[in-house]
Amino acid sequence: MKVGVFDSGIGGLTVVKSLLEHKLFEEIVYFGDTARVPYGVKDRNTIIRYSLEALEFFKNFDIDLIITACNTVSAYALEEMRAQAHCDVIGVVEPGILAAKNALKNPNAKVLVLGTRATVSSGAYESLLNAHGFYNVESQATGLFVPIVEEGLFTGEVLESTMHHYFKNHQIPDAIILGCTHFPLIADAIGSYFQHQSLLIHSGEAIVEYLEHRYDFTERFEETAMKFFASENPDALKAVAKQWLAL
Ligand code: DGL
Repeated sequence: MKVGVFDSGIGGLTVVKSLLEHKLFEEIVYFGDTARVPYGVKDRNTIIRYSLEALEFFKNFDIDLIITACNTVSAYALEEMRAQAHCDVIGVVEPGILAAKNALKNPNAKVLVLGTRATVSSGAYESLLNAHGFYNVESQATGLFVPIVEEGLFTGEVLESTMHHYFKNHQIPDAIILGCTHFPLIADAIGSYFQHQSLLIHSGEAIVEYLEHRYDFTERFEETAMKFFASENPDALKAVAKQWLAL
């Protein structure tokens, strides 16, 4: 299977990392819209338009499946993408919810959803959590984490004070949905802020679980051919990929 992974920028590499760890695909074509990131501060129509343009890009390849690693795109543009795509398109919101549901036995568990402003205001995670019987849900837009991660500040005082700013009024949740591609890179810091008492749900791991339930992966691939594309400065994206994916 050849998979296309779409993100607004570099963050979707966290999802690629999980796909590689599980050796699911023979080939991965990654497209990051680095010229127009962040999507998380844009409105619905713009997010949908950009996502459909990314879909056009993938039509240049013989892709079997498209994964929208971007939570913001998954929250707004999945239906539109599916309506125009030549292959399956899956997002990260539903896999994240199912992973939370599988891990949390108690429907009264307190779930904290973190995401960009757009993802949080879409209510996508909240309404799907409600549909699965989880009503004890809080959401927090934490967009400042995006540039912090891009600066490589995975620890230290900037991150600590930003976490304090966002989390000071939250009690320790049972689970935290890392509803943004960038957040797995600061998962350790977020976990330790909440005294390692919360279960962290990571889109990459959640999507692997989801894929393994829905597709037949009889073959595992020791080697995955990788192609990286970006709408601006592809070399910068390739450099981050090399670092994050240890290529
Ligand atoms: N990739 C985005 C997401 O997962 C975060 C960065 C952005 O705002 O575009 O929501």
